[in-house]
Amino acid sequence: MSTNSIDSLLHESRRFPPSAEFAANAVAKPELYDAAKADRTNFWAEQARELLHWHKPFTQTLDWSNPPFAKWFADGELNVAYNCLDRHVLAGNGERVAIHWEGEPGDSRSVTYAELTAEVKRAANALAALGIGQGDRVAIYLPVIPEAIVAMLAVARLGAVHSVVFGGFSAESLRSRIDDANAKLVITADGGWRKGKVFPLKPAVDAALSGAATSVTNVLVVKRGENDVEWTEGRDLWWHDALAAADAEHEAQGFEAENPLYILYTSGTTGKPKGILHTSGGYLAQVAFTHKNVFDLHPATDVYWCTADVGWVTGHSYVVYGPLANGATQVMYEGTPDTPHPGRWWELIEKYKVSIFYTAPTAIRSFMKLGREIPDKFDLSSLRVLGSVGEPINPEAWIWYRDAIGGGTAPIVDTWWQTETGAIMISALPGVTSLKPGSAQTPLPGIKIDILGEDGTRVDPPQGGLLVVSEPWPAMLRGIWGDPERFKETYWSRFSTEGDYKYFAGDGAHVDQDGDIVLLGRVDDVMNVSGHRLSTQEIESALVSHPIVAEAAVVGAADETTGQAVVAFVILRSDQEKAQTAEEASTILRAHVAEQIGAIARPRQVFVVSELPKTRSGKIMRRLLQDVAEGREIGDTTTLADSSVMQIISDKLK
Ligand code: WT7
Repeated sequence: MSTNSIDSLLHESRRFPPSAEFAANAVAKPELYDAAKADRTNFWAEQARELLHWHKPFTQTLDWSNPPFAKWFADGELNVAYNCLDRHVLAGNGERVAIHWEGEPGDSRSVTYAELTAEVKRAANALAALGIGQGDRVAIYLPVIPEAIVAMLAVARLGAVHSVVFGGFSAESLRSRIDDANAKLVITADGGWRKGKVFPLKPAVDAALSGAATSVTNVLVVKRGENDVEWTEGRDLWWHDALAAADAEHEAQGFEAENPLYILYTSGTTGKPKGILHTSGGYLAQVAFTHKNVFDLHPATDVYWCTADVGWVTGHSYVVYGPLANGATQVMYEGTPDTPHPGRWWELIEKYKVSIFYTAPTAIRSFMKLGREIPDKFDLSSLRVLGSVGEPINPEAWIWYRDAIGGGTAPIVDTWWQTETGAIMISALPGVTSLKPGSAQTPLPGIKIDILGEDGTRVDPPQGGLLVVSEPWPAMLRGIWGDPERFKETYWSRFSTEGDYKYFAGDGAHVDQDGDIVLLGRVDDVMNVSGHRLSTQEIESALVSHPIVAEAAVVGAADETTGQAVVAFVILRSDQEKAQTAEEASTILRAHVAEQIGAIARPRQVFVVSELPKTRSGKIMRRLLQDVAEGREIGDTTTLADSSVMQIISDKLK
């Protein structure tokens, strides 16, 4: 973010207090802050008792005797799927719609809680018949279809662990995730709909499982795309056959609160994605609490829609676990926002009378570019709460969101959190907080956030610093799968002292004159492209894995729509310099990155250069490359080994 926009964020003077009517009917009241302040751990214990069904009630709340390894509600037992399904049916809400699903080509299905429960019971029996039990890992590689939810909940019901891999990731990314977690089973589909076409998924699974020995014994295939698939007899099974053969009854057993629920891989500063581990009781308590209070959920009357893919953490917490634990009715949409026309999302809001809508700033900005005429054609008057997640939302986009989508009245909650935090950590509460564009504002009740300087002391407003979470929270990650050292090193080594552990989030932040938190983006080598996290090193590794590349450096450059965009600088191998034009090399390498990692990582630009700016110790100075990529005056080059390099690069690119 430029200094200019930080300044304007810090001096944002517009305020949007809740209307008296909204405040009167709001789920969250100001007393929540008082209760959490009076006794933080007891506050979470009360939430966990109130919001969840416990097979065996807990007596211990937080065990922080072995930091940074936390245990919440450790002697309690629960079944996560039972909490999301059976108990709603038993409470008489079986006929309530859980999912209004809309396929991209226009087919649709509405699934009630009773139907979803029955389907998950069958699926759990089918998985058990394939040998899946407590602790086993199951990889899920599916489009946004109801079966993705069924598969996740069936795994959870058995006390097993899912690892959902976003359907846009490549075979290579899928393979490394399957291997890292030693998954026994993969659940996929023939294909799914995207941009008016079926994109196949099964070939990536086949490729991921080919070659070297694999831990996977079976592949379950959902029929969705109706496209042809290759079949490995004895390994591959159709989902519908397996479910039809399975028993309809399945009794949910309680598992201990710290039973692992899922692994979700996310990019870090090194090339290898981290398997973020989440467990059951604390995670479910905080996602249920935040989903209910941040979005002001009235489950009997609201229709909620979160546009995230289930392959990301937003999909895990706010499509699957939060809404279903709270018995909400939600919309789920398979395809892209502009297919078959650019008003598709608004058409769905009108069709299902969506009242709570949660999406990412990058989407808002691309709609803003298309103009108000498009949403203006639809009746969006059902909307009463709007949410934003994934990256900072600039005040201009915030105001447009409120006016063009929210009818000039709907509150916007800007929610800050991460794959690692599991659930929302910083956000306004819509009936309580006076909203301010461009700021996530306030830590939620029960969450302790500090902004620290490099030296670990608290900075005073309006100083900027690094964001830390100063007390353990229920949905916190419990580790990095198979790598406790990396867990300690990445998150807990920077600011912790003996007896005082602080979680380092990797984000820069300011506190403004009112004490509101303004997020300023990552401070490490992690980019944020369309609200998705990408590692510069992972993309650099993909680039140098191509035979024409000698060296590569990647930066995240500011982009009007996607927040940041991937920009790469490569040096070709000397024998290649003549064989490829810069343009050919760029085309080849953009495609290569998409194939290695997935289309989201495809660089916006690949520049062929003859040198990279390095310090005397050989470290690439990405900051200078970022100046070039963003078309800025080049910063201080005095620490470069060869200070003329930047001039050569920028001359060449002009
Ligand atoms: C990173 C986490 C949380 C689900 C989606 C992304 C950035 C997230 C905000 C926000 C400013 C935000 C941070 C964070 N981020 N939400 N409201 N305002 N920045 O999850 O892939 O784990 O990425 O996204 O930089 O560290 P993720």
